[in-house]
Parts: sequence; C-alpha cells; structure tokens
Amino acid sequence: MLTNAERRVGIYEVGYQPIDPASVNPDTPLEALNLNWTERDLPERVRTKHVHRLHPYLGKYIPQLVEVFLRKFFAPRQTVLDPFVGSGTTLVQANELGIHCVGCDISAFNVLICRAKTARYDLVRMRREVLDVLERTRRAVETQSHQLELLFERSVEYAPHDYQEHNAYLNTWYAPQALRELLTYRDIVERGDYEYKDLLRVILCRSARSARMTPHYELDFPKVPQREPYWCHKHRRICEPTTEAMKFLVRYSHDTIRRVSEFAQVRTDARVEVFHADSRTVPFPDIDGVITSPPYVGLIDYHAQHAYAYALLGLQDLSAQEIGSASEGVSARARQTYVEGIVQVFQNALNSMRSGGYLIVVANDRHQLYPAIGERLGVEVVGVVERHVNRRTGLRGTEFFESVFIWRKPLKKHLSRTAISLPRSRSRDEIESVGSARCTRRLIKSKNAPRYQLYSSAF
Ligand SMILES: C[S@@+](CC[C@H](N)C(=O)[O-])C[C@H]1O[C@@H](n2cnc3c(N)ncnc32)[C@H](O)[C@@H]1O
Repeated sequence: MLTNAERRVGIYEVGYQPIDPASVNPDTPLEALNLNWTERDLPERVRTKHVHRLHPYLGKYIPQLVEVFLRKFFAPRQTVLDPFVGSGTTLVQANELGIHCVGCDISAFNVLICRAKTARYDLVRMRREVLDVLERTRRAVETQSHQLELLFERSVEYAPHDYQEHNAYLNTWYAPQALRELLTYRDIVERGDYEYKDLLRVILCRSARSARMTPHYELDFPKVPQREPYWCHKHRRICEPTTEAMKFLVRYSHDTIRRVSEFAQVRTDARVEVFHADSRTVPFPDIDGVITSPPYVGLIDYHAQHAYAYALLGLQDLSAQEIGSASEGVSARARQTYVEGIVQVFQNALNSMRSGGYLIVVANDRHQLYPAIGERLGVEVVGVVERHVNRRTGLRGTEFFESVFIWRKPLKKHLSRTAISLPRSRSRDEIESVGSARCTRRLIKSKNAPRYQLYSSAF
C-alpha cells in the first residue's frame, strides 16, 4: 500500500524492492542499494527507534540510511567520523554495529543530545533519577510555594527561586505556569546530586519545546506566540495554546526511560567521542572514514531551532561559526562561503583519514555544489546514489531527492577521478553509458537499481 505522496512520485513500482539494511555487507554491490523505502517498508516508529527520538531535530537523516553505508564500507573496531554530527544518528548506528565513532558539532545543544543518547547507563539508577526529579518537581509545583528549599531534606544552601528570568525568549514564549514548571525542574536538576544530568536536561528541553505557545503546526518554525485558541491545520480542529509544561515532563520522562532501556539492549562497547568544536579547524583523531550529512546552504539555523534550550540552560552560542546558516541566505556569495567551509571541513577530515578510506556525504544538493567540492578535495568518485526522501506528513510542491556521494581518499599516486551528474529527466533506458575524456562511467541497469545511479567504475 502506497501513500499519496509515494503514488505521485511513481518510483515505487510493483517489483521495485528496496534494500533491507540488515542484509548489507561489504560484498553487496552498489547497484543493489535501492534506498527508496516506502512508508510501509520503514514506518515512522522504525525510523525513530529507541534513542533516535529522544529529542526532535530538524535536518537529521534516517538511521537505516547510515546503517547501509556503515555495513558496506566499515568493519567493527574501525573508526568513523561524522564532522556534522547533529543529533547523533551516525554515533548511535555505528555503536550498534560495534564501530568506533567520533562526532563533532558547533551547536552545544546538539552535542548535549549526542552525549545523552550514547552514554552508558546504569538503568536502575537512570530510572530512579528521572522519576526522582519528576516527583520533586510535581510536589514543588503542587504546593504553589516559591520556597523550594522546603522540599529538600538536604536543602540548607538551597536558595528559593522566584521563577522569573530576565530572558526575553522565555518570557515571550511561555505562559507563566509552564515557565514556573520548567524552571523548577531545571533547578532541581542543576542543584541536585544526579549522575545523568545531560539526560535530564534533554527531558527538560523536549518538554520546553512542546510547552511553547506555538500552534501545533508551527513547532519547527514558530513565528509569533499563540495566546488565543486557533484553528489547527494539523489536528483539523480548534486547539488551545498550552499553558503548562508538567504533562510534557511526565510524558517525556517515561518515554525517555523506555527509549534508553531499549537502546541498552543493542548498545555495544564501541567507543563514542563527541567534540563541541568547529570542524574546519579542530584536530580529529585517526579515522578510517567519514559518514555525514552536512548543513546545506541557507536552509536551517541549527542553534535557533533549539532556542529554548540555549535560553533555559545558558549554553554557549557559536551560531556565528555555523556553515550555511539560513540567516546567511543563498546568494552567490553565501554559496561561495559555504563551499569554502565544507571543503575546509572535509580537508581537515581527510588529513586524519587513512588512504583508501571512504568519505560518504548525504546532501540534497539542489545547487549542485558537491561535484565541484569533490574535485577540489581530489577524491576518487566511487558513485552517487540518489534517493527519494519519503515523508509521511507535510505537503511540498516539488519532490525531494537526496544524493549520497561516495568518495574515496586516493591511495598514493592513484589518479583521482570525477563523476558527472545526469539530469533527472533522462530515463534509464536512454542512458547506457556516459563517457568523458577522463574516464568512462556507467549507469547500472537492473530492475532493482535506484534510478539515476552513476558510477565512475564498476565496484
Ligand atoms: C544536517 S545537520 C546533521 C544532522 C545529522 N546527520 C543527524 O542525523 O542528526 C548539520 C549539522 O552541522 C552542524 N554544523 C554547522 N556548521 C558547523 C561547523 N562549522 N562545525 C561543526 N558542525 C557544524 C550544525 O550544527 C548541524 O547540527
């Protein structure tokens, strides 16, 4: 059964089998990598399994996509780097497969999410701490008291909080009760003697995201605070702006306990390391390869999407160092700056990578910047696989394809080669092979091959 969006695209024909990620191994031919999963093949609960839904994050790739390339190009005990680690999809999937992983991100909150997702937990203690903070918050809120110290047996040095913050963001986006509940929870975490504070902070921020006075359909890009009842396009009824945070704290506390416990079942002892730094300049440890999805030019402000977390936790704001931020736009100058930034990051990564290692980049390259980036890096082009990004909700005017660029760090004295892009309008039958002065590339013709898959050499 296809969704309406899938029917419209027309590539999910009968007999067109997507790859089962768990079946991929180093010998799986690239032409077998059909990455066009339908909603039915990969329902939302599978795409957001265990810790992948610990906190919403705009711009993440799906774990199954990463799994395919980890299985194909990496072996257990090798080390993969994700220099744009975001919410940590690569870290989690690599760890599941026993592959060491290094991540780096410029956004402090993303690093916090990554650490919370990948930490090793004593599950009994984790559960006790999550429920303890929740219970203390509930009691503090119920007493309607501003004297928090009364709730603590060991509260001698604990100062009462007046639940007012001189923070424009918090005062704009939260109703008084919601803010009081969030600040109470935060103070109990920060002043308490908890081992898993990062996890508790993630619960706080996830609740803060839901408790903002935004219409339900604008959670990703809120425009102005919604103070009155409104017609909700998402739920197709009149909805009320939220005035409390407690129900979210309760819901996400239990959800977090469940998700962390589920991940513990598949977590391995492979190393996970996360840097909060600019990937253009930070020295990386030795790595075997890279899998990443970079920010794209002028698309998302990664700090701004979690503004509530920065306001509540007082995290360091390094948004000026974000590559390709939405606020910089997509002008020719912005694109040029973007390309320089991406080249710098990958050059930095290649300096730490062994020869012959793979650099796998997932991008919706609508400005066709990546072939030239690959040339500047001097990498071999192993292939480019395109996949339709299939979302269950959200209408959009044009179809959304993303490309997976598979590059390789040349062995010494090895000639680098470059692929060319084919226009989407050309059919598979039209294209048998495409030659150039530098090398011959061929489009794999097979029933299960994704469309528009291009190789610089048979693999
Ligand atoms: C597309 S997202 C990565 C999403 C990730 N694949 C996931 O599944 O969650 C790109 C990330 O690059 C980060 N970023 C932007 N500029 C950076 C820089 N100079 N150094 C390190 N990270 C940067 C952003 O903060 C953002 O988290």
